[in-house]
Order: sequence, then structure tokens, then C-alpha cells
Amino acid sequence: MPSDKPKILVTRRLPGPVEERMAALFEARFNASDAALSADAIVAGLEGCSVLVSSITDRLDAALLGRLPGSVKLIAQFGNGFDNIDIEAAYAAGLTVTNTPSVLTEDTADMAMLLMLALPRRLVEGAEVLPQTGMWPGWSPSWMLGRRLRGKALGIVGMGRIGSAVAARAKTFGIAVHYFSRNRRPPALEDKLGATFHDSLDALAGAVDIVSLHTPLTRDTSGLMSRARIAAMRPDAFLVNVSRPELIDEPALIEAIEAGRLAGAALDVFDNHAGLNPRLRALAEAHRVVLTPHMASATLEARIEMGETVIVNIRAFADGHQPPHRVLPEARARA
Ligand code: 8YV
Repeated sequence: MPSDKPKILVTRRLPGPVEERMAALFEARFNASDAALSADAIVAGLEGCSVLVSSITDRLDAALLGRLPGSVKLIAQFGNGFDNIDIEAAYAAGLTVTNTPSVLTEDTADMAMLLMLALPRRLVEGAEVLPQTGMWPGWSPSWMLGRRLRGKALGIVGMGRIGSAVAARAKTFGIAVHYFSRNRRPPALEDKLGATFHDSLDALAGAVDIVSLHTPLTRDTSGLMSRARIAAMRPDAFLVNVSRPELIDEPALIEAIEAGRLAGAALDVFDNHAGLNPRLRALAEAHRVVLTPHMASATLEARIEMGETVIVNIRAFADGHQPPHRVLPEARARA
């Protein structure tokens, strides 16, 4: 007897408990190798499926969306960001798209703080000493001096869920919170976070010691940290990015750090299309940049909750309801 369970294709390996639950609820096709699937493999794997469980490594552009089998009705993105999907084209093709907001907010904010601390407190450099040399001559009053974070000014770009969670953490560290966002947040939230609003990113960039990016990648935000805005930052300031690499003019950032016009950067995301830029790598080796490989939401808890959110979206959709985390073209434009 044919099963009436939704048939789904999951493009990447998900944590065990998530795949087990999906296998129980759906007729699921998994990707045991975890290698990112080519466009052809996605199209072929979706034959007879109604749901595509995608993630950031699947480039779902208009051309690929136009090739999906007619049985596909839902794209359930495993991720908060959905800049890999052409939402307008999906909507025009009658496809529903969902994402997994909220469940990775706190972990991503923790990572922003980790990066924010790592650079001025020379964490990576210090942590390398013993594994690399196997010895330590002992404490010295003038060795490995970093810079204090308390009392500094942080400029948050994008005061949404993650930006607000970073602001709350920064406040407890004694850091003054400044922010720029498309929409000014309510006074009650500003008071709670002790946050000062700037109505221009240019002004914010030059007014703070740290700029931290928490805005999604959209047509409007691509290249947001432009050469001019990087140049506007203070020479002893640094940039933190746990969002998307495309927000930053990376060549301009590299040049500014190399030239000593900017103290450094702590990046969880960077342009990796043609591999890591050797100049960025050299800056990381010189400890002027801290690089982590897109780990901000990488906790077991977040990834399981992301999986659960995907399941809830699929179940609601399969039962004929509006899934709770639907992404609409307007939302993308607003983001
Ligand atoms: C995700 C992320 O793990 O959810 C996001 O927006 O940036 C990541 O941390 C990734 O996108 C999975 O698709």
C-alpha cells in the first residue's frame, strides 16, 4: 500500500535525533555523505517528493526552482537565513518556503561575544602557546597584553532577535551599546538594553570601538560595510561578523587591516567561494584577524531545535495549515 507520509529530501546530514524523528514521520531521503548536492542531484533526488529540506549550501536560484519536479510544494529551510533561496521566484512558482528563526538566537549571540572577546584579549594567540611550544617560561607583567573590553562602545548593526541578544550580553560586560537598524526599536527596549540609536550607519561606524553585524543578507544589505564605512571606523576599532560574508567589502577590510587603518576583525563568515583569501589567512596567522568556520549556531541543542522547527513546518503544511515560520517575499524585502 502506498504510504501517505510526506516524501522529503534532506540535502545535508542532520543530527541523529532529527533524522530519526524525520524517518519516523516522513518518507525521508537523507544524504549519508553530507557532501553538498549539485543542482542535478537535488532535482533527481526530489523525484516524487513534496518537500525539500534545504540549507545554506543549496543555491536555490530561479533556474533551479524552475527545474524542480511538480510534486514539490514546500521548501523547508534548515536555517534562520534564507539568502540562498530566490524567495520571489519560489513564491511566483507557488512554492511555500519556511525557515527556523529564534532557536539559534542565543547561541549565535554567544559566538558574537566569544569573537568580540577573542581579538582584544588575544585568546587564539594565547591558546596556541602551550600546544605549539610545549613550555612556558612563566608569568610576566608585560607579556601578552591585550585591551580591556569593559567601557568600550559596541555598534550593533541590525537590532533584531540576535542583535538584541548580543546587546543584552554586552551590557552585562559593561560595554556601551549603540545600534543602527532599519527601524528604531521601542523606547522600552532601548532603555532595557541601554542602547543608543544612530539613524545612519556612517555615523555609527565612526562612533564605536567594535562594529558587530547582525542583519540578514538582502539586496539592500549586500556590501553594507563598504570601503567608505570601513574607512570611517576608528583605527583602533574592529569588526565582528556572525551573519553573512557578503555584508562586508572583504578586500577593503583586508587592506584596512594590513595598512594599520583598522585594528582587526573577528569573522565567523568570510568569502570562501574560491577558497580562503590568502591575505586574510596571513592576517589570521599574524593574530590580527580571528577566523572561525561558520560555527555561530553550531551547538547540538540549536541544531536539534532547528530540526524540530523544520518538522513542525512540514507537519503543519502537510496537514493543510499555514506553517508557522513561512517566509514571504515582503518579509525578505523588510528584513
Ligand atoms: C545555519 C545560519 O546553520 O541559520 C543561519 O542563518 O547562518 C547558520 O548558522 C545555516 O544557515 C544552515 O542552513
